[in-house]
Amino acid sequence: MNQTVKHLIDPNDFSVEEINNVVDFGLKIYQNPSKYSTLCQGKILGTLFYEPSTRTRLSFESAMLRLGGSVLGFSDANTTAVKKGESLADTIRVLDGYGDILVMRHPMEGAPKLASEYSTVPVVNGGDGGHQHPTQTLTDLITIKYYKKDVKNLKIALCGDLLFGRTVHSLLKTLSRFENISFYLISPPELKIPKHLKNDLLAQNISLTEVTDLEDCVNDVDILYMTRIQKERFLNEEEYMRLKDSYVLTRDKLDNAKEDLLVMHPLPRVNEIQYDVDDDPRAKFFQQAELGVYVRMALISYLLGVADHA
Ligand code: NCD
Repeated sequence: MNQTVKHLIDPNDFSVEEINNVVDFGLKIYQNPSKYSTLCQGKILGTLFYEPSTRTRLSFESAMLRLGGSVLGFSDANTTAVKKGESLADTIRVLDGYGDILVMRHPMEGAPKLASEYSTVPVVNGGDGGHQHPTQTLTDLITIKYYKKDVKNLKIALCGDLLFGRTVHSLLKTLSRFENISFYLISPPELKIPKHLKNDLLAQNISLTEVTDLEDCVNDVDILYMTRIQKERFLNEEEYMRLKDSYVLTRDKLDNAKEDLLVMHPLPRVNEIQYDVDDDPRAKFFQQAELGVYVRMALISYLLGVADHA
């Protein structure tokens, strides 16, 4: 194990100061991307995706290409030697020689952590099962900072699959470290946040209100973070069918919501936000996906140790 290499596996791997630095650097890059177009020249990003992805993989690739670096990787592990029975540890021991930084998505919780223990280059968790997704959190934070100017004194509702939604877990874990953030957790009783996460938040005296109806809090909050019911994590198809349309945000449900509300979603959406919401100026999920490229540019530069020279 190489102790000096910095990885991002869990949101708590970064201090609040490091998170703020990456987000602020992302905003700086967003204002003037061409200034950074050679920052990672000669560097290679490896993308190891053992699970489907659109935004995470492609935004990382776009980020590295915009920094003047190159990318290689796979998006279907069935085309790799995993099919022949190669272990994750062996794959990583080889691939850390092919890339200068690796991003991994895996259906198994803890797989990126294991990879980081074998890798001699930085490993980034691009989502592990229903566990964590720290770079989506950076994407969420840059969006909040861009539109709200600061990440403090906010009431945030998270709605949908709070049990299996890894973006929710990472976002809650991270925002609980910022000043005066209170949460409304909107979910069916079956899809409440995991007990251990709830206990951790309560132990930090975080304000949490669990509700089942979106209407109970939509008019009070500064941010509404919608999520998809995570079909692939259900053991029982019938249960998924019963819960899949628990929440559908329509334009009329926002009639009395705050004028400066931010409606966010990590995407992909299935049915939980109707298309007529897209034209509401408070809907920011596509801008959120775009900002994800810039915060990932900042993250790659930071982990490669070139951000300080920018
Ligand atoms: C999320 C994920 O993969 O967890 N997608 C993303 O990275 N933007 C959300 C989801 O799949 O629902």
